[in-house]
Amino acid sequence: QEAALQGRFQERVDAEEKIEPRDWMPEGYRRTLVRQISQHAHSEIVGMLPEGNWITRAPTLRRKVALLAKVQDEGGHGLYLYSAAETLGVSRDELVGQLLSGKAKYSSIFNYPTPTWADIGAIGWLVDGAAIMNQVPLCRCSYGPYARAMVRICREESFHQRQGYELMLALAQGTAEQKRMAQDALNRWWWPSLMMFGPSDDQSAHSAQNMAWKIKRFSNDELRQRFVDATVPQAEFLGLTIPDPELRFNAETGHYEFGAIDWTEFNEILKGNGPCNRERIEARRKAWDDGAWVREAAVAHAAKRKQRAMK
Ligand code: ACO
Repeated sequence: QEAALQGRFQERVDAEEKIEPRDWMPEGYRRTLVRQISQHAHSEIVGMLPEGNWITRAPTLRRKVALLAKVQDEGGHGLYLYSAAETLGVSRDELVGQLLSGKAKYSSIFNYPTPTWADIGAIGWLVDGAAIMNQVPLCRCSYGPYARAMVRICREESFHQRQGYELMLALAQGTAEQKRMAQDALNRWWWPSLMMFGPSDDQSAHSAQNMAWKIKRFSNDELRQRFVDATVPQAEFLGLTIPDPELRFNAETGHYEFGAIDWTEFNEILKGNGPCNRERIEARRKAWDDGAWVREAAVAHAAKRKQRAMK
């Protein structure tokens, strides 16, 4: 019977039908979605930290408003995504517990520091640019709640990317010192942004199955290549140099060829040894502990309301 259910499930996926929370699904499909959606949610929440660091130091009121809105959007994305994961039968407490204990992963990119204002531009341009490249196809993911959450998230990410690029443009067209800051930020964020797409296809444990289940629509390397092809001309327009001496356009394939990624750096970050891993988790633990009274008050308030309604 299990085999028949599996077969019917795959037929539905192949026919581009959306799988909904109450539908039968293989245990592996459920597990992989919980893993990916929760990792994605954690990334949004931890991703608030490197930029949140600059809200009080934004150079103008206009920049501050944009950054504040962006960081709030990221908090919202995290919440939608936790809700999408909850439809698969896990609780939010369980998921947050996995982040705080170090069991669950979040994107490698958020373990790098943001020492200058230009980092805010580079994050919007490159990190959100890479995020969009990876997430637009997720709007067509086979799991309905995840696919639907991604539609709004991608619209907001697109605004984030534009504000970052416009910030970089202002710096690149500014004083020599501002242009130098922009170049320095590009130098530090370029390679980590390429790593965001995950290991190369021959090392990617989950890709083949996730593509068969139509969770993933394109492989890690395909999306990475698309990102490079889209971003190199943007760097040229800014008058900045991509920090890769091997980067060159191949007129025959129509793609940019790029140098080797330092996978040792990526693997160290995944093991918790990146420049900011400890700081990020500590900040999340502190936020969780400091917020305990809010959770307790919300529960007490809900209990009171329920009691009042019963009277
Ligand atoms: N950072 C941290 N971990 C990563 C990264 C990364 N950049 N890339 C891959 N991994 C992890 C995978 O989670 C997986 O870990 P696990 O097996 O221990 O659970 C392992 O490395 C092997 O990778 P893959 O087999 O390629 O994993 P997968 O098929 O899940 O692909 C990917 C990874 C592309 C990140 C996918 O999970 C995805 O598309 N996720 C949704 C998007 C997302 O999470 N974006 C977060 C950053 S964007 C933002 O928040 C602004």
